[in-house]
Amino acid sequence: MWNEKFDRPDHLYGVEPNDFLRSCYDAISAKGRVISLGEGEGRNAVFLATRGYAVTALDSSSVGLEKTKKFAESRGVRVETRLADLSKCEVGDREWDGVIVVFCHLPSALRAEVWSKISRSLKPGGALVMELYTPKQLEATKAGRSVGGPKDLDLMVTADEVKRAFPEMSFQILREVEREMQEGDGHRGLSHTVQVLGMLGK
Ligand SMILES: C[S@@+](CC[C@H](N)C(=O)[O-])C[C@H]1O[C@@H](n2cnc3c(N)ncnc32)[C@H](O)[C@@H]1O
Repeated sequence: MWNEKFDRPDHLYGVEPNDFLRSCYDAISAKGRVISLGEGEGRNAVFLATRGYAVTALDSSSVGLEKTKKFAESRGVRVETRLADLSKCEVGDREWDGVIVVFCHLPSALRAEVWSKISRSLKPGGALVMELYTPKQLEATKAGRSVGGPKDLDLMVTADEVKRAFPEMSFQILREVEREMQEGDGHRGLSHTVQVLGMLGK
């Protein structure tokens, strides 16, 4: 499905990084190793690489990762790409200074598995940056106020779920927000998300 969606000349979610990531990426140790899960076409990975991070972009879409590589080249930076399905791969063991999850929505059972892998994959003091749609987004898209996000409640995420899933994290930011979104054709309008900046205890 994502290969077809990304098979277009431009970037579905634009080439600018996600606003929330831009606002808080520097909580990740400078020049650290970062993995972006469900990176898509590269906008967030390339942004982080231009800021000096060593970035790995993981996605199950080969088309997305090809676009990521080309986009990185065009900006004169290197992004390592990893073609993998999160339902079948490991994420690492105390390997990353930062893990990024921007609109990588997974079914609840898989989400629980992947999130516990995220905790193990972060170094002590490592940062998790996530922005995901909440259930309220379903109403917003139905009413035509917003474009973007899954159409299935099971894929949506609340702040409460995040808090329960990461007991070992201290959250500098954990909030549900209503915000204007302008990310290419794919994410637009007044949208409902949960924003997370968590640090793994040392
Ligand atoms: C809504 S797009 C977001 C892309 C990117 N993070 C962004 O914000 O521009 C969701 C991405 O998650 C990826 N994805 C979904 N399920 C996945 C899985 N099980 N394993 C790996 N990637 C997955 C898709 O291929 C797609 O690139």
